[in-house]
Amino acid sequence: MALSACSAIDAHIYDRVAAAVRRGLAASPKSLPPWLFYDEAGSQLFDRITELPEYYLTRTERGIFLQSADAMVACAAAGGRLRIAELGAGSADKTRLLLAAAVRRQGAVVYEPLDVSESALEAARARIEHELPQVQVAPRVEDYTLRLDLDTLPAGERRLVLYIGSSIGNFEPAAALHLLQTVRAALRPGDALLLGVDLVKGEATLLAAYDDAAGVTAAFNRNLLVRLNRELGADFVPEAFAHCAVWNAAASRMEMHLESWAAQTVRLAALDLTVEFAPGERIHTENSYKYQPGQAETLLEQAGFRPDAPWTDAHGWFAVCLGRVE
Ligand code: AVJ
Repeated sequence: MALSACSAIDAHIYDRVAAAVRRGLAASPKSLPPWLFYDEAGSQLFDRITELPEYYLTRTERGIFLQSADAMVACAAAGGRLRIAELGAGSADKTRLLLAAAVRRQGAVVYEPLDVSESALEAARARIEHELPQVQVAPRVEDYTLRLDLDTLPAGERRLVLYIGSSIGNFEPAAALHLLQTVRAALRPGDALLLGVDLVKGEATLLAAYDDAAGVTAAFNRNLLVRLNRELGADFVPEAFAHCAVWNAAASRMEMHLESWAAQTVRLAALDLTVEFAPGERIHTENSYKYQPGQAETLLEQAGFRPDAPWTDAHGWFAVCLGRVE
């Protein structure tokens, strides 16, 4: 039945899940927030997605870092000493490329991953400290979508905040701006933000990336229902929902939905909630916004940063943009 509230942290996450599910399934159209994807199984499925031939995002951004991590670190440091914070617990090897560049430049670096999940932070700490002994990991449990509170730096140090991997793509334009403003408010002159955004490209490429031949993305999408069955005592039949990936050109975003094959009734025991589905009715599970060239720079500017010219790949598929605080 329901997840046992065995610690204050679990109880907190349980309440967050319960509230989000109650709200999303009562809404019309039905929706569930994409952060629900990342339970243990979902995080493993996402790692597999990043290795799929169709999922160009991770590989493309990694290529940009392989090429330009030293330049990025040099631009952000601007002669000073850097400390690197990251929104999210770090996507193993992409973050490592930037940390390694900082180590090459200044010998050692403090890395501050910020995440709501204590276990994700501990995993990041173990991995990074093992691979890069010159990196001192200072993890912090923080929901940066609500507020951001960073330690004051010693004189002469600057902070570089990483928000990479197209994570910002999950946010509607107004929420994305708000998030960058929150980051800006936590920074001081000399600090900077490195933002990774996925760019608009041909529809076939986008559709394949979110509906791969091996069905890993479909399993990732349906795993949401498996999670609700376990954590909220729900009785979803995951196979009774089709995985749908849709390119919404007007909104410039990829969407994922779970579409009910038939009329069905689902019971969520822990919420004392019964939900009806019509045949073909969908649960909207994710938006992944795709940016136009120049759009990340505009957004950074609106949030109070001064953007540099972005780094990109040969196809112009992905952009990494540095915004400075002056
Ligand atoms: C982790 C939000 C960047 O939107 O591409 C992967 C999540 N969803 N496949 C993305 C995801 C479907 C991913 N982000």
